[in-house]
Amino acid sequence: MAVASFSPSFTVSPSPPIRPANRVSIQTRLRSIPRATLTIDSGSSGGVAAGKPKVLLEVRGLKAAVKENGKELLHGVDITIREGEVHAIMGKNGSGKSTFSKVLVGHPDYEVTDGSVVFKGENLLEKEPEERSHAGLFMSFQSPIEIPGVSNFEFMLMALNARREKNGLKPIEPLEFYGYLGPKLAALKMEPTFLDRNVNEGFSGGEKKRNEILQLAVLEADLAILDEVDSGLDVDALQDVASAVNGLLKPNNSILMITHYQRLLEIIHPSFVHIMEGGKIVKTGDSSLAKQLDEGGYKAISTV
Ligand SMILES: Nc1ncnc2c1ncn2[C@@H]1O[C@H](COP(=O)(O)OP(=O)(O)OP(=O)(O)O)[C@@H](O)[C@H]1O
Ligand SMILES: [Mg+2]
Repeated sequence: MAVASFSPSFTVSPSPPIRPANRVSIQTRLRSIPRATLTIDSGSSGGVAAGKPKVLLEVRGLKAAVKENGKELLHGVDITIREGEVHAIMGKNGSGKSTFSKVLVGHPDYEVTDGSVVFKGENLLEKEPEERSHAGLFMSFQSPIEIPGVSNFEFMLMALNARREKNGLKPIEPLEFYGYLGPKLAALKMEPTFLDRNVNEGFSGGEKKRNEILQLAVLEADLAILDEVDSGLDVDALQDVASAVNGLLKPNNSILMITHYQRLLEIIHPSFVHIMEGGKIVKTGDSSLAKQLDEGGYKAISTV
């Protein structure tokens, strides 16, 4: 029995329950370990080449439909994301933003009917969801799933080690991992007790969002897709989460974020803002596009 039917990071199989004794010791050990010095090599393929940064993701004419009934939702999406860039996708409710990001990570509800997606030089569409995450593509969901019976700590360690194994790296030991997690938790102002709790179980909306960013920070995504990471966050939480997202950005990785609001883009400055409408990107510009939208609504943006 699979605990989670779909996970972007790896397949969650029923794992042995974690004994309460272990759970208590996580916090104690975290406190006693010097703050992280470990640098985890994500196995990513290099830095910024001379001249223009390398293309990380190239999507051309992507069409996708609901697998169950064949209804087409994406009608030809085009986007190019280079290393070091932050892209924002905005658009009205139901315009296809979440569908697009779920199709990228290989969500089983959707079927690609046309077009191409190349990620780090390889055809992403022929990869299983798990292989996509091992390749460095991660998504923070609009509504993160709960995983009963699997602690947050265990989940992240398993996900990280699964990726390391695929990249020919030796697994991180739990103790080493505690030290690695410390500053990442601190950056997100998360209590170590979150490590002991089952993934997202009983987390408030804002806590789930922080936890999603923690997972991304741990897994060191090459391309992090954030679907409405700002939704339901109070003002302070928005600042913490956005600052942590800024901290994720390195010269050789990228962020694709979906948002309805300019306020997030005031903290995480996008290189490009795209407007999605009817399952397509209909306009691309710089951050002034988001400002225009904020001030005048979608009618202020002519897409003809
Ligand atoms: N599995 C599915 N089955 C049927 N319809 C779907 C499915 N997934 C998405 N849709 C439909 O596709 C359209 C686009 O949905 P999507 O979730 O991508 O919108 P969105 O742009 O993310 O909107 P929001 O801003 O409200 O989050 C919606 O009309 C939605 O109902
Ligand atoms: Mg959505």
